[in-house]
Amino acid sequence: MSWRATILTLFPDMFPGPLGQSLAGRALGEGVWSLHAHDLRAHGLGRHRNVDDTPFGGGAGMVMRPDVVDAAIAAATGDDPLPLLYLTPRGRPLQQRDVRRYASGPGVMLLCGRFEGVDERVLDAHAAEQLSIGDYVLSGGEPAALVLLDACIRLLPGVMGSADSATEESFSNGLLEYPHYTRPAEWQGRAVPPVLLSGHHAAIAAWRDAQARDATRTRRPDLWAVHASHPVTNPLPA
Ligand code: ADE
Repeated sequence: MSWRATILTLFPDMFPGPLGQSLAGRALGEGVWSLHAHDLRAHGLGRHRNVDDTPFGGGAGMVMRPDVVDAAIAAATGDDPLPLLYLTPRGRPLQQRDVRRYASGPGVMLLCGRFEGVDERVLDAHAAEQLSIGDYVLSGGEPAALVLLDACIRLLPGVMGSADSATEESFSNGLLEYPHYTRPAEWQGRAVPPVLLSGHHAAIAAWRDAQARDATRTRRPDLWAVHASHPVTNPLPA
């Protein structure tokens, strides 16, 4: 049984989009994961298939109606429910540990909002997890859904070549990853750090470790604070 991605969107043609290419695209073709993009408009009301209305309490923009969203969820769920995730800048920041949790389950149902958002009651009624991909505002949840799916799909068994890439990468140990270098050893007067050419595995590991810590401390003081306060629960990779 493949990992399932069900999308509720006003723009189903945005899917699979970039996920039809490269590793994710190959895995889609091989049936490692499956995609069902449902058009929210199909559940709209009246001759114009309206999906939104003005906000109670006033204010700018339009809000997606709970009855329309609920009908779409019901139609897309059938008798095989998936965790419902709503992409919104109001959500909890998506983290790699969430991605690992979703990737190890049966799949996800992603609700993509447009306009000002979705009526909160339908999110409550379905216990939707509200997730943000960063502190900036997109024009809709679709690009965020693509980001979330990409992060999950690369972790599915058989999608990514080397298992090591998944354990050594940024965030897997709470730190940013060390920098990478390849040939030529000197390029435009810039040399590769000599230790990487030494063949001394312990020295290379120590250098990479120091680089990872340095990058995390300077670029992500938030991650560094967590790492520094849990030195035992965030061990460094061997
Ligand atoms: N929809 C609009 N902006 C978003 C964001 N930053 N994350 C998730 N969904 C969004």
